[in-house]
Amino acid sequence: MMKKIVVGIDFGTTFSGIAWGNTLDAHINIIQQWPGLSSPLDKSSEKVPTQILYDGEAPGDFKWGYQIKDDLPRHQWFKLDLESSYNPKEKALANRYPHPNNLPSNVDHNAQQLTTDYLAGLKRHLTHMLQLQLGELQAKTTPLQFILTVPAVWSEIAREKTLTAAEGAGLGDDAPNLLVSEPEVAATYALQRQDLRYLKPGDTFVVCDAGGGTVDLISYTVVKLEPVLEVKEAAPGTGGLCGSTYLNRRFQEYLEVRLGQQDGWDEDTLKEAMDHFDQLVKVQYTSTVKDQTWRVPVTGLATNEALSIKKGKLILKSADVKEILEPVIAQVVKLVLEQIRTTSGEVKAVLLVGGFGMSMYLRERIKEEVSNKIEVLQPPYGWSAVVRGAVLKGIAQSDPKHTKVRLTSRIARKHLGTCCGVIFNEKIHSASRKYFDAYDGTWRTTAMSWFIKRGDTVNEDKPYTFEYYNVTSFTDEKPTEVVLYIYCDRTNRSAVAYRDDEVETLARLNVKVGDLPKDAFDIKFGKDDKIYYKLEYAVEITYQSASTKYELVHKGKRYSSVIAEYV
Ligand SMILES: Nc1ncnc2c1ncn2[C@@H]1O[C@H](COP(=O)(O)OP(=O)(O)OP(=O)(O)O)[C@@H](O)[C@H]1O
Ligand SMILES: [Mg+2]
Repeated sequence: MMKKIVVGIDFGTTFSGIAWGNTLDAHINIIQQWPGLSSPLDKSSEKVPTQILYDGEAPGDFKWGYQIKDDLPRHQWFKLDLESSYNPKEKALANRYPHPNNLPSNVDHNAQQLTTDYLAGLKRHLTHMLQLQLGELQAKTTPLQFILTVPAVWSEIAREKTLTAAEGAGLGDDAPNLLVSEPEVAATYALQRQDLRYLKPGDTFVVCDAGGGTVDLISYTVVKLEPVLEVKEAAPGTGGLCGSTYLNRRFQEYLEVRLGQQDGWDEDTLKEAMDHFDQLVKVQYTSTVKDQTWRVPVTGLATNEALSIKKGKLILKSADVKEILEPVIAQVVKLVLEQIRTTSGEVKAVLLVGGFGMSMYLRERIKEEVSNKIEVLQPPYGWSAVVRGAVLKGIAQSDPKHTKVRLTSRIARKHLGTCCGVIFNEKIHSASRKYFDAYDGTWRTTAMSWFIKRGDTVNEDKPYTFEYYNVTSFTDEKPTEVVLYIYCDRTNRSAVAYRDDEVETLARLNVKVGDLPKDAFDIKFGKDDKIYYKLEYAVEITYQSASTKYELVHKGKRYSSVIAEYV
């Protein structure tokens, strides 16, 4: 009897995937049939479009994925709106050119709600498929454990929103949802397939997950091959908002600038041209064929030689397409080169996954720029590597005997720390900011205390502890709650002594010290001979693939009494 079914959900900007497996045989089953795909026998797809349309009688009724027929406006690309902390410059193109078929989000249908409903649609379909494949009884009685993937570049807030949406969709009904990093699980899947089996201990490789919205990079060094393949992260991962939908946005910009003022130009013409670009032009373009031409439909526009319009078609030449693709492709190439540069050790291979990772032109451009000793690989399962890897991760977590690949450590992508009264050090602190602490008779300054620096090795099994104490005058009420702030610095500079504008507030921790035993507070005399309550405790932080666990430790005992709120 199966104990539980592990379900991977890759909620993507343009396409989403579901795969499942169990701890008995660890086989990965990927869902390839979807509601709305006309004939299940000859129509299958490893993924389903991330789109939703509310068109039913009741306010909550909706269609999703392939159920939405051509031309109808729908909500799409809404995953990107879960991430609000991108800088406005990076989002400018996205804001200026939303998808032409897109319904704007509104109060009832904001990104969070759209995600919740869409995930509920996925869960409903999964339940149906499990019933078909396992029988109703088994499907209904076996608990489901969901593993959701998020871009590694996602902020804590965006991850939290994803988790809340998953809970709202009922994904956490049987077991708590687990969030994992997209490029990390894609890499695990590739390693488990042994496609990189020529790698020896010490060899390093880069994984680039290029999707519709985001591009995520990560690099690993092989530590050992036996008894399980062990790898460690070899550089801080990077990435950005430069997925394949930005190629579409560039094309839209190109069309609107050139043809926007022409008679007959309208929304329908734009949509038709954009679809042609999305499905054919950007996918077929390669720099190896020099004189290719594409005939993009621009129905209703008069023939105009100067604008290359002939009988309702816009003639695009290789050079035109290259010009449209170039800025986005260049951004991805730059990220790959940077990742190779910052990775310690010689990089032997770049593994491209994700839909955009299948682009011939992207591969050609990367190949052109990197040393010819580096292989640039596009594995055939690249489009679904993330969702397959998510299931592997969940299965290995549930039953360690299935672990075939182990990630021993990660590298911090940002500095993390707190801001508190630290002992004054004249080498790094400013004299004008020191103050005298009457309780312990020391000179202190309110400054940053970094517990993880960018580039540090972070181990999932080893929590970070920061010890803290709180003193309250004996004449005051004992606190029941202490608020601590966690700060981060995502820039490339070294960790600063004092908090400035680049240091962002990451989380507010409410430490419920009221949950501790009554005698938790010691009574102490200060150096000033006054009486104080003193509470000594530690906050333990464990960094996992795409989530963080906070615990309160007092006199060796652990309490889950820390509530983290991402701000
Ligand atoms: N050959 C190709 N060249 C360029 N883009 C491509 C190619 N093939 C597919 N794509 C694009 O890849 C995207 C789908 O990839 P994928 O499913 O990995 O993205 P996603 O998971 O939806 O996005 P993200 O991971 O960023 O949230 C689509 O935008 C699709 O147009
Ligand atoms: Mg993806």
